Amino acid sequence: MASPSAPHGHDHTPEPLTSSPVQNLSGTISVPGDKSISHRSLLLGAVADGQTRISGLLEADDVMATAGAMQALGAKVEKQGSQWLVDGMGNGALLEPPQPLDFGNAGTGSRLAMGLVAGYDFPVTFVGDASLSSRPMGRVLNPLRETGLQVESAEGDRLPLTVHGAPLPVPITYRVPVASAQVKSAVLLAGLNIAGTTTVIEPVMTRDHTEKMLAGFGANITVTTDQDGTRHISVEGQTKLTAQDVTVPGDPSSSSFAIVAGLIVPGSDLTIKNVLLNPTRTGLFDTLLEMGADLEISNRRQSGGEDIGDIRVRHSKLTGVDVPADRAPSMIDEYPVLAVAASFADGETVMRGLEELRVKECDRLAVTAQGLLANGVDCTEGEDTLSVRGSARALGGATVETQLDHRIAMSFLVMGMAAEKPVSVDDTVMINTSFREFVPLMKSLGASLS
Ligand code: S3P
Repeated sequence: MASPSAPHGHDHTPEPLTSSPVQNLSGTISVPGDKSISHRSLLLGAVADGQTRISGLLEADDVMATAGAMQALGAKVEKQGSQWLVDGMGNGALLEPPQPLDFGNAGTGSRLAMGLVAGYDFPVTFVGDASLSSRPMGRVLNPLRETGLQVESAEGDRLPLTVHGAPLPVPITYRVPVASAQVKSAVLLAGLNIAGTTTVIEPVMTRDHTEKMLAGFGANITVTTDQDGTRHISVEGQTKLTAQDVTVPGDPSSSSFAIVAGLIVPGSDLTIKNVLLNPTRTGLFDTLLEMGADLEISNRRQSGGEDIGDIRVRHSKLTGVDVPADRAPSMIDEYPVLAVAASFADGETVMRGLEELRVKECDRLAVTAQGLLANGVDCTEGEDTLSVRGSARALGGATVETQLDHRIAMSFLVMGMAAEKPVSVDDTVMINTSFREFVPLMKSLGASLS
Protein backbone atom coordinates (compact mmCIF):
# COMPACT_ATOMS: atom_id res chain seq x y z
CA MET A 1 0.00 0.00 0.00
CA ALA A 2 1.20 3.51 -0.70
CA SER A 3 -0.11 7.00 -0.14
CA PRO A 4 0.23 10.10 -2.29
CA SER A 5 3.39 12.09 -1.63
CA ALA A 6 3.78 15.86 -1.33
CA PRO A 7 4.57 17.80 -4.53
CA HIS A 8 8.10 18.83 -5.50
CA GLY A 9 8.81 22.08 -7.24
CA HIS A 10 9.34 24.42 -4.30
CA ASP A 11 12.91 25.78 -4.29
CA HIS A 12 14.32 22.55 -5.69
CA THR A 13 17.88 22.10 -6.91
CA PRO A 14 17.80 22.28 -10.74
CA GLU A 15 18.90 19.20 -12.66
CA PRO A 16 20.16 20.20 -16.12
CA LEU A 17 20.27 17.68 -18.95
CA THR A 18 21.74 17.53 -22.46
CA SER A 19 20.20 15.75 -25.42
CA SER A 20 22.66 14.82 -28.18
CA PRO A 21 21.80 13.91 -31.77
CA VAL A 22 21.26 10.19 -32.41
CA GLN A 23 21.19 7.95 -35.50
CA ASN A 24 17.62 6.76 -35.10
CA LEU A 25 14.92 5.96 -32.55
CA SER A 26 13.13 2.64 -32.56
CA GLY A 27 11.05 0.38 -30.37
CA THR A 28 7.64 0.20 -28.71
CA ILE A 29 6.61 2.09 -25.58
CA SER A 30 3.52 2.91 -23.55
CA VAL A 31 3.20 6.36 -22.07
CA PRO A 32 1.69 6.84 -18.60
CA GLY A 33 -1.96 7.69 -17.94
CA ASP A 34 -3.68 10.81 -19.14
CA LYS A 35 -3.27 13.70 -16.71
CA SER A 36 -6.70 15.24 -17.28
CA ILE A 37 -8.55 11.97 -16.72
CA SER A 38 -6.33 11.11 -13.73
CA HIS A 39 -7.17 14.35 -11.88
CA ARG A 40 -10.86 13.95 -12.60
CA SER A 41 -11.00 10.32 -11.45
CA LEU A 42 -9.64 11.35 -8.04
CA LEU A 43 -11.93 14.38 -7.71
CA LEU A 44 -15.08 12.46 -8.65
CA GLY A 45 -14.03 9.43 -6.60
CA ALA A 46 -13.77 11.70 -3.54
CA VAL A 47 -17.42 12.76 -3.71
CA ALA A 48 -18.91 9.51 -5.01
CA ASP A 49 -20.55 6.86 -2.81
CA GLY A 50 -18.43 3.71 -2.53
CA GLN A 51 -14.94 2.77 -3.67
CA THR A 52 -13.58 4.10 -6.96
CA ARG A 53 -10.81 1.89 -8.39
CA ILE A 54 -8.44 3.54 -10.82
CA SER A 55 -6.13 1.57 -13.11
CA GLY A 56 -3.37 3.39 -14.97
CA LEU A 57 -3.53 6.53 -12.82
CA LEU A 58 -0.74 8.94 -13.74
CA GLU A 59 1.63 8.84 -10.77
CA ALA A 60 3.20 12.23 -11.45
CA ASP A 61 3.55 15.12 -9.03
CA ASP A 62 0.54 17.06 -10.34
CA VAL A 63 -1.82 14.14 -9.87
CA MET A 64 -0.32 13.14 -6.53
CA ALA A 65 -1.02 16.70 -5.34
CA THR A 66 -4.68 16.20 -6.22
CA ALA A 67 -4.66 12.84 -4.42
CA GLY A 68 -3.19 14.52 -1.32
CA ALA A 69 -5.82 17.27 -1.52
CA MET A 70 -8.67 14.75 -1.70
CA GLN A 71 -7.26 13.04 1.41
CA ALA A 72 -7.10 16.37 3.22
CA LEU A 73 -10.78 16.85 2.30
CA GLY A 74 -11.71 13.55 3.97
CA ALA A 75 -11.46 10.91 1.24
CA LYS A 76 -9.29 7.84 1.68
CA VAL A 77 -6.81 7.51 -1.20
CA GLU A 78 -4.35 4.65 -1.37
CA LYS A 79 -2.56 2.41 -3.81
CA GLN A 80 -3.16 -1.33 -3.68
CA GLY A 81 -1.19 -3.37 -6.17
CA SER A 82 -1.37 -1.44 -9.41
CA GLN A 83 -4.68 0.26 -8.63
CA TRP A 84 -5.47 3.45 -6.78
CA LEU A 85 -8.52 3.24 -4.52
CA VAL A 86 -10.58 6.28 -3.55
CA ASP A 87 -13.20 6.03 -0.82
CA GLY A 88 -15.35 9.10 -0.47
CA MET A 89 -17.24 9.74 2.74
CA GLY A 90 -20.52 9.27 0.89
CA ASN A 91 -23.41 11.61 0.13
CA GLY A 92 -21.00 14.08 -1.44
CA ALA A 93 -19.61 14.97 1.99
CA LEU A 94 -16.22 16.69 2.29
CA LEU A 95 -14.41 17.88 5.43
CA GLU A 96 -12.69 21.17 6.17
CA PRO A 97 -9.02 20.38 5.46
CA PRO A 98 -6.70 20.69 8.47
CA GLN A 99 -3.94 22.32 6.39
CA PRO A 100 -3.55 24.31 3.15
CA LEU A 101 -3.87 22.23 -0.01
CA ASP A 102 -0.46 22.28 -1.72
CA PHE A 103 -0.88 21.88 -5.47
CA GLY A 104 2.78 22.36 -6.39
CA ASN A 105 2.86 23.15 -10.13
CA ALA A 106 -0.63 21.82 -10.92
CA GLY A 107 -2.96 24.32 -12.60
CA THR A 108 -5.62 21.77 -13.46
CA GLY A 109 -5.68 20.13 -10.01
CA SER A 110 -5.91 23.45 -8.18
CA ARG A 111 -8.55 25.02 -10.42
CA LEU A 112 -10.76 21.94 -10.52
CA ALA A 113 -10.46 21.53 -6.75
CA MET A 114 -11.50 25.17 -6.25
CA GLY A 115 -14.65 24.28 -8.12
CA LEU A 116 -15.20 21.07 -6.20
CA VAL A 117 -15.08 22.82 -2.78
CA ALA A 118 -16.94 25.97 -3.87
CA GLY A 119 -20.31 24.62 -2.72
CA TYR A 120 -19.13 23.77 0.82
CA ASP A 121 -19.44 26.12 3.79
CA PHE A 122 -15.87 25.93 5.11
CA PRO A 123 -12.55 27.61 4.33
CA VAL A 124 -9.96 25.95 2.07
CA THR A 125 -6.51 27.45 1.47
CA PHE A 126 -4.66 26.78 -1.79
CA VAL A 127 -0.88 27.11 -2.15
CA GLY A 128 1.54 26.19 -4.92
CA ASP A 129 5.01 26.73 -6.35
CA ALA A 130 6.29 29.96 -7.96
CA SER A 131 4.87 29.06 -11.38
CA LEU A 132 1.39 28.21 -10.07
CA SER A 133 1.42 31.29 -7.79
CA SER A 134 1.88 33.52 -10.84
CA ARG A 135 -1.04 32.05 -12.79
CA PRO A 136 -4.48 33.73 -12.99
CA MET A 137 -7.14 32.11 -10.82
CA GLY A 138 -9.80 34.80 -11.44
CA ARG A 139 -10.98 32.84 -14.46
CA VAL A 140 -12.39 30.17 -12.13
CA LEU A 141 -12.98 32.34 -9.05
CA ASN A 142 -15.18 34.88 -10.87
CA PRO A 143 -17.91 32.44 -11.86
CA LEU A 144 -17.63 30.70 -8.49
CA ARG A 145 -18.15 34.06 -6.73
CA GLU A 146 -21.58 34.17 -8.40
CA THR A 147 -22.53 31.12 -6.34
CA GLY A 148 -21.70 33.07 -3.16
CA LEU A 149 -18.10 31.94 -2.76
CA GLN A 150 -15.90 34.27 -0.68
CA VAL A 151 -12.26 34.61 -1.76
CA GLU A 152 -9.33 36.04 0.16
CA SER A 153 -6.11 36.45 -1.75
CA ALA A 154 -3.11 38.64 -1.08
CA GLU A 155 -2.58 39.57 -4.70
CA GLY A 156 -5.27 39.76 -7.40
CA ASP A 157 -6.64 36.21 -7.44
CA ARG A 158 -3.25 34.55 -7.35
CA LEU A 159 -2.16 31.80 -4.95
CA PRO A 160 -1.89 31.61 -1.98
CA LEU A 161 -5.61 32.18 -1.50
CA THR A 162 -8.49 30.99 0.66
CA VAL A 163 -12.00 30.25 -0.55
CA HIS A 164 -15.12 29.76 1.56
CA GLY A 165 -18.35 28.50 0.02
CA ALA A 166 -21.72 30.03 0.93
CA PRO A 167 -24.03 28.30 3.45
CA LEU A 168 -26.69 28.26 0.73
CA PRO A 169 -24.82 28.47 -2.58
CA VAL A 170 -26.73 29.58 -5.66
CA PRO A 171 -26.71 27.58 -8.93
CA ILE A 172 -25.44 29.61 -11.88
CA THR A 173 -25.52 29.69 -15.65
CA TYR A 174 -22.11 30.66 -16.95
CA ARG A 175 -20.91 31.37 -20.46
CA VAL A 176 -17.18 30.55 -20.54
CA PRO A 177 -15.37 33.62 -21.96
CA VAL A 178 -12.11 31.79 -22.81
CA ALA A 179 -11.71 28.34 -24.33
CA SER A 180 -10.82 26.56 -21.09
CA ALA A 181 -11.72 23.07 -19.95
CA GLN A 182 -10.52 24.01 -16.49
CA VAL A 183 -13.04 26.85 -16.17
CA LYS A 184 -15.86 24.71 -17.56
CA SER A 185 -14.96 21.89 -15.21
CA ALA A 186 -14.60 24.05 -12.11
CA VAL A 187 -18.14 25.41 -12.57
CA LEU A 188 -19.63 21.96 -13.23
CA LEU A 189 -17.86 20.46 -10.21
CA ALA A 190 -19.12 23.32 -8.03
CA GLY A 191 -22.63 22.51 -9.26
CA LEU A 192 -22.41 19.04 -7.73
CA ASN A 193 -23.04 20.40 -4.21
CA ILE A 194 -25.38 23.25 -5.16
CA ALA A 195 -29.12 22.54 -5.10
CA GLY A 196 -30.66 23.17 -8.52
CA THR A 197 -29.26 23.24 -12.04
CA THR A 198 -25.82 24.60 -12.85
CA THR A 199 -25.25 25.31 -16.54
CA VAL A 200 -22.08 26.02 -18.48
CA ILE A 201 -22.36 27.50 -21.97
CA GLU A 202 -19.30 26.68 -24.00
CA PRO A 203 -19.04 28.51 -27.36
CA VAL A 204 -15.81 26.70 -28.32
CA MET A 205 -15.56 23.02 -27.42
CA THR A 206 -12.70 22.04 -25.13
CA ARG A 207 -11.71 18.62 -23.81
CA ASP A 208 -14.88 16.92 -22.62
CA HIS A 209 -13.56 14.53 -19.97
CA THR A 210 -15.48 16.17 -17.12
CA GLU A 211 -18.82 15.83 -18.88
CA LYS A 212 -18.13 12.26 -19.91
CA MET A 213 -16.89 11.19 -16.51
CA LEU A 214 -19.72 12.92 -14.62
CA ALA A 215 -22.16 10.92 -16.74
CA GLY A 216 -20.14 7.77 -16.02
CA PHE A 217 -20.33 8.40 -12.26
CA GLY A 218 -24.12 8.71 -12.53
CA ALA A 219 -24.52 12.49 -12.34
CA ASN A 220 -27.67 13.96 -13.77
CA ILE A 221 -25.98 15.78 -16.66
CA THR A 222 -27.26 16.88 -20.04
CA VAL A 223 -25.34 18.27 -23.00
CA THR A 224 -26.99 19.96 -25.97
CA THR A 225 -25.25 21.55 -28.95
CA ASP A 226 -26.62 24.51 -30.94
CA GLN A 227 -26.31 24.66 -34.70
CA ASP A 228 -23.29 26.96 -34.39
CA GLY A 229 -21.53 24.43 -32.15
CA THR A 230 -22.19 26.20 -28.83
CA ARG A 231 -22.61 23.59 -26.11
CA HIS A 232 -24.92 23.83 -23.09
CA ILE A 233 -23.89 21.53 -20.25
CA SER A 234 -26.21 21.27 -17.25
CA VAL A 235 -25.74 19.32 -14.06
CA GLU A 236 -28.28 18.79 -11.27
CA GLY A 237 -26.75 19.42 -7.87
CA GLN A 238 -26.97 17.26 -4.77
CA THR A 239 -27.72 14.06 -6.60
CA LYS A 240 -25.79 10.93 -5.77
CA LEU A 241 -22.58 9.99 -7.61
CA THR A 242 -21.65 6.31 -7.55
CA ALA A 243 -18.06 5.03 -7.40
CA GLN A 244 -16.69 3.60 -10.66
CA ASP A 245 -13.86 1.49 -11.98
CA VAL A 246 -11.79 3.84 -14.15
CA THR A 247 -9.11 2.77 -16.63
CA VAL A 248 -6.95 5.74 -17.59
CA PRO A 249 -5.66 5.63 -21.19
CA GLY A 250 -2.18 6.81 -22.21
CA ASP A 251 -1.72 10.58 -22.29
CA PRO A 252 -1.70 11.95 -25.85
CA SER A 253 0.17 15.05 -24.65
CA SER A 254 2.98 12.89 -23.23
CA SER A 255 2.99 10.72 -26.37
CA SER A 256 3.55 13.83 -28.50
CA PHE A 257 7.22 14.04 -27.46
CA ALA A 258 8.02 10.54 -28.71
CA ILE A 259 5.94 11.17 -31.84
CA VAL A 260 7.78 14.34 -32.82
CA ALA A 261 11.12 12.74 -31.92
CA GLY A 262 10.33 9.81 -34.24
CA LEU A 263 9.37 12.19 -37.06
CA ILE A 264 12.50 14.35 -36.91
CA VAL A 265 15.24 11.80 -36.14
CA PRO A 266 16.28 10.21 -39.47
CA GLY A 267 15.68 6.47 -39.79
CA SER A 268 13.26 6.27 -36.85
CA ASP A 269 10.39 3.80 -36.57
CA LEU A 270 8.60 3.60 -33.22
CA THR A 271 5.24 2.70 -31.76
CA ILE A 272 3.33 4.13 -28.80
CA LYS A 273 0.61 1.90 -27.43
CA ASN A 274 -2.74 2.71 -25.79
CA VAL A 275 -2.93 6.41 -26.55
CA LEU A 276 -6.12 8.36 -25.84
CA LEU A 277 -7.61 9.50 -29.17
CA ASN A 278 -10.50 11.64 -27.94
CA PRO A 279 -11.02 14.15 -30.79
CA THR A 280 -10.86 17.08 -28.34
CA ARG A 281 -7.20 16.12 -27.75
CA THR A 282 -5.84 15.11 -31.15
CA GLY A 283 -5.21 18.46 -32.87
CA LEU A 284 -1.46 17.80 -32.92
CA PHE A 285 -1.90 14.51 -34.76
CA ASP A 286 -4.11 16.22 -37.38
CA THR A 287 -1.54 18.98 -37.81
CA LEU A 288 1.39 16.59 -38.16
CA LEU A 289 -0.55 14.58 -40.76
CA GLU A 290 -1.10 17.79 -42.74
CA MET A 291 2.65 18.41 -42.53
CA GLY A 292 3.25 15.04 -44.19
CA ALA A 293 3.96 12.93 -41.11
CA ASP A 294 3.97 9.17 -41.50
CA LEU A 295 1.66 8.35 -38.58
CA GLU A 296 -0.34 5.15 -38.61
CA ILE A 297 -3.03 4.43 -36.06
CA SER A 298 -3.87 0.80 -35.47
CA ASN A 299 -5.81 -1.27 -32.98
CA ARG A 300 -8.43 1.48 -32.59
CA ARG A 301 -10.74 0.53 -29.78
CA GLN A 302 -12.88 1.86 -26.95
CA SER A 303 -11.87 1.81 -23.30
CA GLY A 304 -13.92 3.40 -20.53
CA GLY A 305 -15.95 5.38 -23.04
CA GLU A 306 -12.86 6.82 -24.77
CA ASP A 307 -11.27 6.08 -28.16
CA ILE A 308 -7.76 4.71 -27.85
CA GLY A 309 -5.25 3.22 -30.28
CA ASP A 310 -1.59 2.51 -31.02
CA ILE A 311 0.44 5.04 -33.02
CA ARG A 312 3.31 4.04 -35.30
CA VAL A 313 5.65 6.87 -36.27
CA ARG A 314 8.32 6.85 -38.97
CA HIS A 315 10.82 9.54 -39.80
CA SER A 316 9.16 11.92 -42.28
CA LYS A 317 9.93 14.84 -44.47
CA LEU A 318 7.71 17.58 -43.02
CA THR A 319 6.33 20.67 -44.73
CA GLY A 320 5.24 23.88 -43.00
CA VAL A 321 1.49 24.48 -42.64
CA ASP A 322 -0.93 27.09 -41.36
CA VAL A 323 -2.44 25.92 -38.07
CA PRO A 324 -5.82 27.65 -37.65
CA ALA A 325 -6.83 29.30 -34.38
CA ASP A 326 -9.89 27.08 -33.99
CA ARG A 327 -7.63 24.06 -33.60
CA ALA A 328 -5.92 25.48 -30.52
CA PRO A 329 -8.22 23.94 -27.86
CA SER A 330 -7.56 20.42 -29.16
CA MET A 331 -3.77 20.83 -29.00
CA ILE A 332 -3.27 23.59 -26.46
CA ASP A 333 -0.46 21.79 -24.60
CA GLU A 334 1.30 20.64 -27.78
CA TYR A 335 2.51 23.92 -29.34
CA PRO A 336 6.05 23.80 -27.91
CA VAL A 337 6.64 20.36 -29.38
CA LEU A 338 4.88 21.30 -32.64
CA ALA A 339 7.28 24.27 -32.84
CA VAL A 340 10.15 21.77 -32.58
CA ALA A 341 8.67 19.68 -35.41
CA ALA A 342 8.21 22.88 -37.45
CA SER A 343 11.92 23.69 -36.95
CA PHE A 344 12.73 20.63 -39.08
CA ALA A 345 10.02 21.22 -41.71
CA ASP A 346 10.47 22.75 -45.15
CA GLY A 347 8.95 26.22 -45.24
CA GLU A 348 6.98 28.20 -42.72
CA THR A 349 4.56 26.93 -40.08
CA VAL A 350 2.20 29.59 -38.72
CA MET A 351 0.39 28.83 -35.48
CA ARG A 352 -2.57 31.07 -34.65
CA GLY A 353 -4.86 31.69 -31.69
CA LEU A 354 -2.15 31.14 -29.07
CA GLU A 355 -3.23 33.73 -26.48
CA GLU A 356 -3.83 31.03 -23.84
CA LEU A 357 -0.18 29.91 -24.08
CA ARG A 358 0.78 33.07 -22.23
CA VAL A 359 -0.85 31.82 -19.00
CA LYS A 360 0.41 28.24 -18.89
CA GLU A 361 3.15 26.98 -16.52
CA CYS A 362 5.17 29.85 -18.01
CA ASP A 363 4.57 32.23 -20.90
CA ARG A 364 4.90 29.31 -23.28
CA LEU A 365 4.71 31.43 -26.40
CA ALA A 366 7.65 33.66 -25.41
CA VAL A 367 9.71 30.85 -23.88
CA THR A 368 9.23 28.58 -26.91
CA ALA A 369 10.29 31.40 -29.26
CA GLN A 370 13.35 32.16 -27.08
CA GLY A 371 14.37 28.51 -27.09
CA LEU A 372 14.01 28.28 -30.87
CA LEU A 373 16.01 31.48 -31.50
CA ALA A 374 18.75 30.39 -29.07
CA ASN A 375 19.10 27.19 -31.11
CA GLY A 376 19.36 28.99 -34.42
CA VAL A 377 15.76 28.46 -35.59
CA ASP A 378 14.27 31.37 -37.50
CA CYS A 379 10.94 32.31 -35.93
CA THR A 380 8.68 35.27 -35.14
CA GLU A 381 6.62 35.65 -32.00
CA GLY A 382 3.40 37.65 -32.48
CA GLU A 383 0.89 38.61 -29.81
CA ASP A 384 -1.00 35.35 -30.29
CA THR A 385 0.92 33.71 -33.14
CA LEU A 386 4.17 31.90 -33.67
CA SER A 387 5.75 31.52 -37.11
CA VAL A 388 8.59 29.05 -37.49
CA ARG A 389 10.72 28.81 -40.63
CA GLY A 390 12.31 25.40 -40.57
CA SER A 391 15.19 23.69 -42.30
CA ALA A 392 16.14 20.04 -42.75
CA ARG A 393 18.35 20.20 -39.66
CA ALA A 394 17.99 22.73 -36.84
CA LEU A 395 21.27 24.00 -35.46
CA GLY A 396 20.94 23.39 -31.70
CA GLY A 397 23.85 24.08 -29.40
CA ALA A 398 22.11 26.22 -26.75
CA THR A 399 20.85 25.79 -23.21
CA VAL A 400 17.12 26.51 -22.89
CA GLU A 401 15.62 28.16 -19.81
CA THR A 402 12.62 26.06 -18.88
CA GLN A 403 10.98 28.43 -16.36
CA LEU A 404 9.45 25.64 -14.23
CA ASP A 405 7.69 24.27 -17.34
CA HIS A 406 7.81 20.51 -17.93
CA ARG A 407 6.64 20.72 -21.53
CA ILE A 408 9.33 23.26 -22.47
CA ALA A 409 11.97 20.94 -21.00
CA MET A 410 10.72 17.85 -22.86
CA SER A 411 10.21 19.69 -26.17
CA PHE A 412 13.75 21.02 -26.34
CA LEU A 413 15.26 17.69 -25.30
CA VAL A 414 13.41 16.29 -28.32
CA MET A 415 14.97 19.00 -30.49
CA GLY A 416 18.44 17.90 -29.37
CA MET A 417 17.84 14.35 -30.64
CA ALA A 418 17.81 15.60 -34.26
CA ALA A 419 19.73 18.91 -34.20
CA GLU A 420 23.25 19.38 -35.53
CA LYS A 421 24.58 20.14 -32.05
CA PRO A 422 23.31 18.97 -28.64
CA VAL A 423 20.54 20.93 -26.91
CA SER A 424 20.56 21.38 -23.13
CA VAL A 425 17.82 22.40 -20.72
CA ASP A 426 18.58 24.15 -17.42
CA ASP A 427 16.25 21.96 -15.35
CA THR A 428 14.44 18.64 -15.73
CA VAL A 429 12.93 18.28 -12.24
CA MET A 430 9.59 19.67 -13.43
CA ILE A 431 9.23 16.81 -15.90
CA ASN A 432 8.11 14.84 -12.84
CA THR A 433 4.92 16.92 -12.73
CA SER A 434 3.52 15.05 -15.74
CA PHE A 435 5.87 12.39 -17.13
CA ARG A 436 8.47 10.92 -14.75
CA GLU A 437 9.28 8.12 -17.20
CA PHE A 438 10.19 10.55 -20.01
CA VAL A 439 13.98 10.16 -19.76
CA PRO A 440 14.10 6.35 -19.36
CA LEU A 441 11.45 5.80 -22.07
CA MET A 442 13.21 8.06 -24.56
CA LYS A 443 16.52 6.37 -23.73
CA SER A 444 14.88 2.97 -24.36
CA LEU A 445 14.09 4.21 -27.89
CA GLY A 446 17.71 5.24 -28.42
CA ALA A 447 17.87 8.86 -27.20
CA SER A 448 21.13 10.14 -25.76
CA LEU A 449 20.31 12.12 -22.60
CA SER A 450 22.98 12.87 -20.02
C1 S3P B 1 -6.70 20.87 -18.87
C2 S3P B 1 -7.10 21.97 -19.60
C3 S3P B 1 -6.17 22.85 -20.32
C4 S3P B 1 -4.78 22.22 -20.46
C5 S3P B 1 -4.33 21.58 -19.19
C6 S3P B 1 -5.29 20.48 -18.79
C7 S3P B 1 -7.71 20.05 -18.19
O1 S3P B 1 -6.06 24.06 -19.62
O2 S3P B 1 -3.84 23.20 -20.85
O3 S3P B 1 -3.03 21.03 -19.33
O4 S3P B 1 -7.40 18.92 -17.77
O5 S3P B 1 -8.85 20.52 -18.05
P1 S3P B 1 -7.08 25.30 -19.86
O6 S3P B 1 -8.40 24.93 -19.32
O7 S3P B 1 -6.47 26.44 -19.12
O8 S3P B 1 -7.09 25.51 -21.35
